[in-house]
Amino acid sequence: MKFYLDSAKVDEIRYARDMWNIDGVTSNPRHVRNSGKPFLVAIRDIAKEFEGTDKPISVEVNPHHTTAEAMVEEGLKLAAMSPNFVIKIPAIEAGFKALWMLKDKGIRVNLTLAFSAAQALQAARLGAAYVSPFIGWKEANGEESSHLIAEIVRIYRNYDYKTEIIVAAVRNARQIVESAVAGAHIVTSAFDVYKEAFDHPYTAKGIQLFADNWDATPYE
Ligand code: E4P
Repeated sequence: MKFYLDSAKVDEIRYARDMWNIDGVTSNPRHVRNSGKPFLVAIRDIAKEFEGTDKPISVEVNPHHTTAEAMVEEGLKLAAMSPNFVIKIPAIEAGFKALWMLKDKGIRVNLTLAFSAAQALQAARLGAAYVSPFIGWKEANGEESSHLIAEIVRIYRNYDYKTEIIVAAVRNARQIVESAVAGAHIVTSAFDVYKEAFDHPYTAKGIQLFADNWDATPYE
């Protein structure tokens, strides 16, 4: 399974790259805003961190676009900026059309803001490189989401679709594990989610216990 970092902050991205060997990055307009930089500066800075690698960086088109043509025009511009860029397009009708138009031009698309298996199926049919079901937002509304990921995995296997599932809006280690058990290809999580997920209080307790015993034992 691959782990992507969901962020546009270069300090977080560097840490995740150098400490966790993160497999890629996803961003969205909220993350870019939180970086404190203009959009193009923020995404160029992320691209620099992965120059010479094949790690994908998802960058989202202007959410005000309502036509496939506008999404495609911006998608082409962004894709030309870095070979790492994957174009994030929303799962609306115009977005699905933009997806296959971009795919025909050899541009990888991450179909984002997906909340149902039907949307994920349409994304795969049209050749999305990635689909991003947002499980945290569903659960915030009281909807159970582990079945959604399992259904998408099953559908993709049934038809041998190559689209990779990026489980998005992941809030905790349990959701990472459930995504892996369901067979999702990738999770994308915020920095703090990974920080907590890779840690365990018993590990710290165990190190302290062993250190105390180590100190009480002659070495030779
Ligand atoms: C995924 O690609 C999205 O950027 C992300 O997970 C959105 O959700 P969040 O910012 O609420 O976590």
